[in-house]
Amino acid sequence: MVKKMMQRILPRAFLGKPSLLRRSATASQSTLAQTVQENEPVLPKMPPFDYTPPPYTGPSAEEILSKRQQFLSPAVFHFFKNPLNLVDGKMQYLFDENGKRYLDAFGGIATVCCGHCHPKVVDAIVNQTKRLQHSTILYLNPAIADFAEALASKFPGDLKVVFFTNSGTEANELALLMARLYTGCQDVISIRNGYHGNAAGTMGATAQSSYKFNVVQLLMPSIHLTFISSFACVSKTGVHHAQNPDQYRGIFGSDGSKYARDVDDIITYGTSGRVAAFIGEAIQGVGGIMELAPGYLPSVYNTIRKAGGVCIADEVQSGFARTGSHFWGFEAHGVVPDIVTMAKGIGNGIPLGAVVTTPEIAKVLAHRSYFNTFGGNPVCTAAGHAVLQVIEQESLQQNAFTVGSYLKQRLTSLKDKYEIIGDVRGRGLMLGVELVTDRQLKTPAKVETLHLVDQIKDFLVDVMDYTLSKM
Ligand SMILES: Cc1ncc(COP(=O)(O)O)c(C=O)c1O
Repeated sequence: MVKKMMQRILPRAFLGKPSLLRRSATASQSTLAQTVQENEPVLPKMPPFDYTPPPYTGPSAEEILSKRQQFLSPAVFHFFKNPLNLVDGKMQYLFDENGKRYLDAFGGIATVCCGHCHPKVVDAIVNQTKRLQHSTILYLNPAIADFAEALASKFPGDLKVVFFTNSGTEANELALLMARLYTGCQDVISIRNGYHGNAAGTMGATAQSSYKFNVVQLLMPSIHLTFISSFACVSKTGVHHAQNPDQYRGIFGSDGSKYARDVDDIITYGTSGRVAAFIGEAIQGVGGIMELAPGYLPSVYNTIRKAGGVCIADEVQSGFARTGSHFWGFEAHGVVPDIVTMAKGIGNGIPLGAVVTTPEIAKVLAHRSYFNTFGGNPVCTAAGHAVLQVIEQESLQQNAFTVGSYLKQRLTSLKDKYEIIGDVRGRGLMLGVELVTDRQLKTPAKVETLHLVDQIKDFLVDVMDYTLSKM
């Protein structure tokens, strides 16, 4: 029944021809907004592709699943009723154990930003691996220095000091630590529905119950712990979660300044009046591609700075040109953060994260030893540097803008046609479609969404081209 219903709501002609394609670049990045009009989408073209992976001779999907069930944590879950066994990847395609090719619209959770196994990134990794795989930052090596310089050049103002980590969680933990040391305050404000990681501090900043375990999520002096443990409802996080400036369900619609008042209230009523930091994503990724209401970030940044705090932009998903119109998500809001964190796209799949901040804030870590064994590893930083070069050489920001604008425009036109599409949102290649069973009540269409995700996987098999006329 669900299948029939989905066929009615989203025709195969559309699902079978997704437009995650690439258009050859002509305009400079700074003029992107003027060159592509929302209502006159440029029809993107699929990049040429000529690759057949070697035959796969490893264990079958069933055998792997059974090993996973036996030897991996029960917390490990998978997509799809019949999970995919992906054994090869090349640029926009993934291949399963039988050589079946899928157009990848997910990029390993917004991570593969240059294409799978991009030859220039692979070369950088292989060449560095052959020369020196690991040394730690206790020694000099050109890979980390060159990449830090190139990365710093992508930031405005005083954001010029780079710390490398291995993940987004680590980057956010470090950013929160620096903010607390720099300001001498503990209170952090994050946004409801945000995701910032799964370690002690970042789980506190994360504001979605499904990613929060019922444990103390911020290390506090033991005297505080003894004190707070006698109050059943006292926050276990040291973090205040502000109202989400959610333009779809939020009570103030798209009026960012009204949502921002909640941050004033939190500071006035929930803190000493001084705070350590505000942390937020420019577009919430794990939270379902939620663009913050316009005007929210400038207003909040102002409030936080008046309260002595620093502003942290979590660019783990929205960074590295994914949003198309800008290289960093925060740029679309006209703000300049004090600390920026990043991961995922920075390494195109290599474990790498970073924190970029000002020399003044960076100094706080010099009072003790901050050390990270793999942070700044030569192989990872060589990969990161290659990623930056590929994004520039292949105009991937322009590509995200062109393809993303086109895809969003087509999805929005489907919304006019099909009741189940409640909302289409996001920017560039960070787009979301929310299905609802009732448009007025905005009731999440959970069963239908799961069914559709399963179906889309099969529609994405062997997509080589796009035919507009089928829509
Ligand atoms: C916005 C954001 N911040 C932080 C993280 C945590 O990154 P990682 O999984 O690399 O620790 C994620 C992961 O999805 C994320 O989406």
